[in-house]
Amino acid sequence: MNRSQLLYAGKAKSVYRSEVPEELIVSFRDDITAFDGGKKDIIVGKGAFNARISAFFFSYLEEHGIPTHFIRMTDERTMVVRELTMIPLEVIVRNRAAGSIVRRYPFQEGQVFSPPVIVMDYKDDTRHDPMINEDLICALGLLTREEIQTIRKLALTINRHLTDLFSNKGLDLIDFKIEFGRSGDKILLADEISMDSMRLWDRETGASLDKDVYRFDKGDVLSAYAQVVKMMVPEGYGV
Ligand code: C5P
Repeated sequence: MNRSQLLYAGKAKSVYRSEVPEELIVSFRDDITAFDGGKKDIIVGKGAFNARISAFFFSYLEEHGIPTHFIRMTDERTMVVRELTMIPLEVIVRNRAAGSIVRRYPFQEGQVFSPPVIVMDYKDDTRHDPMINEDLICALGLLTREEIQTIRKLALTINRHLTDLFSNKGLDLIDFKIEFGRSGDKILLADEISMDSMRLWDRETGASLDKDVYRFDKGDVLSAYAQVVKMMVPEGYGV
């Protein structure tokens, strides 16, 4: 497959033009970063784990009525996706308090949010992804109020599906970040859903099985990611 034209290289994924119009190729790299790029490493094998679990979740969500950009995997770290116009928002769903929400507001680590809390950040590295609200999103012309409601509903439905899947395996989904894009007037789930973009705690031990292992040097990142993939993705799924 010809993927010579690099369109965009993010912190952990590269996006290439495909020879098929309206399709793009996403390569999940082994780079890992944290703290706004302040900590960086290469964890060989990480990209394949994130690609595999993202593909599995995208397919699962599609089967349950959520439109996504995912088309297929071409190898263990590469997926073909629909080309979208990305909406520069990070939509974060929080089931329990952890990370930045605990640093910025008087919540206790682990405190349950019922109903879940949705936070949106404006995706702009130069501005350090500031938190944004509905009025600002409309003022910037990113979404209409109706589209914000559509995204909130999608985010909560995705949360219900993922929470159930993890819960059945003894894992608690603490929070996760998703991104959306447009194709015409349709809004689709895009980007990735992986251990890089969520917090997952083992219900028995409380151990982190996500990027916090890397952020806070809590142990072996690759084995944590491998464990989640092994628990969640059926044998024989994918390429
Ligand atoms: O850092 P914070 O606590 O706000 O992150 C909330 C969730 O969103 C975490 O699961 C984190 O991994 C994810 N996130 C992300 N990409 C960002 C910011 C947060 O995947 N740029």
